[in-house]
Amino acid sequence: MKSFARRTDWQLQPNELARRLSARRAAGLPLLDLTESNPTRCRLAYPEAQIRAALNSPALLRYSPDPRGLAAARQSIAASYYGAKGEEVKPEQLLLTASTSEAYAYLFRLLAEPGDELLVPRPGYPLFDFLAQICDLKPVSYALAATRGWRIERSSLLAGLGERTRAILAVSPNNPTGSFLASADRDFLLALCAERGLALIVDEVFADYSLDERIEPPCWPAEPPTLLFRLNGLSKTLGLPQLKLSWIYASGPPELLQAALGRLEIIADTFLSVNTPVQLALPRLLELRLPIQGSIRERLRSNLAKLKELAGRSGPAPWRLLPVQGGWYAVLRLPPGRDEEELVLGLLDDEGVYIYPGYFFDFSQEPLLVLSLLTPPDRFAAGLGRLTGYLRRAGL
Ligand SMILES: Cc1ncc(COP(=O)(O)O)c(C=O)c1O
Repeated sequence: MKSFARRTDWQLQPNELARRLSARRAAGLPLLDLTESNPTRCRLAYPEAQIRAALNSPALLRYSPDPRGLAAARQSIAASYYGAKGEEVKPEQLLLTASTSEAYAYLFRLLAEPGDELLVPRPGYPLFDFLAQICDLKPVSYALAATRGWRIERSSLLAGLGERTRAILAVSPNNPTGSFLASADRDFLLALCAERGLALIVDEVFADYSLDERIEPPCWPAEPPTLLFRLNGLSKTLGLPQLKLSWIYASGPPELLQAALGRLEIIADTFLSVNTPVQLALPRLLELRLPIQGSIRERLRSNLAKLKELAGRSGPAPWRLLPVQGGWYAVLRLPPGRDEEELVLGLLDDEGVYIYPGYFFDFSQEPLLVLSLLTPPDRFAAGLGRLTGYLRRAGL
């Protein structure tokens, strides 16, 4: 064995927080995990019998793949998912993948040469670094401004644009800030991408989880002036990541769009990674999203209400809840002057409470903590109680 590729030169040792977390688990010590965002571990109500029945199609013993995804499955996304939102989408504009991560990888392969750059939001989804690196691309971050409701810091985005930029990524609502892309930022991105010949990739996996009725999620033109790839999937829309089905909805100037779809089809045909049972089940599964999303939304809302209640109590909490417009996370700001790492390690060791430090998501200001609003309510309330007590005793 000569060597491994440099792109896999990762630090394989777990960081201190991960090391102490697994030691705690191995020792069987009590743990209040406030980061759980795997919905299948959050005690949510799923229509189990209907999900099983949907997956049990008589056709599943036949294999007749379509590289873009089975026509009936794409038809159901166009009609039942986008149609319900009043959007007219043609099944030909959809391409199924096994995950949103895979959708990113296909698009990166479609759009960029090794060494090219992608503009990614900061703070944001930590996996972008890995997804870009695995495709030999360089992620360049652009800032979202905390003081302006996480609107795009245009000077930072323009400063990050270079000769080798190939695409701009946006997440709406963003993980973990929960902020929807503002309409003015959408217009800015579309115009900039059209002017510079860049593709725009918009991750909408949390789009169905609006938590502030005053906020209008951005709508997109059916024929944008540049290539626009909107990503979504069952991992969040149905809370069923194990079903492994996501999609790319591509739009743009007709000629460019046809060329992009043709090339994407070859990439998808090379892997044929989406399993047949889930594609056959998709029309029925999409109908089940209403009760599933209902139960997820109820959890998100009740945990958010709990946070607001604690924040508003007399003897103010030693943390401040940042506004949440949507998504599955909440961000707490702590009084300045304390080291984030020290705080999360102390919370874990002394209180058995696990919370993400803000630096996992590349926030520029400290100290911040990030928690999952999907956490089962009893654990959420107990964990927050311990967090507040711990911070008070620490003099915060
Ligand atoms: C913003 C964002 N995009 C994509 C994903 C992953 O989706 P998938 O499970 O479809 O790869 C996540 C998972 O948390 C996410 O937060």
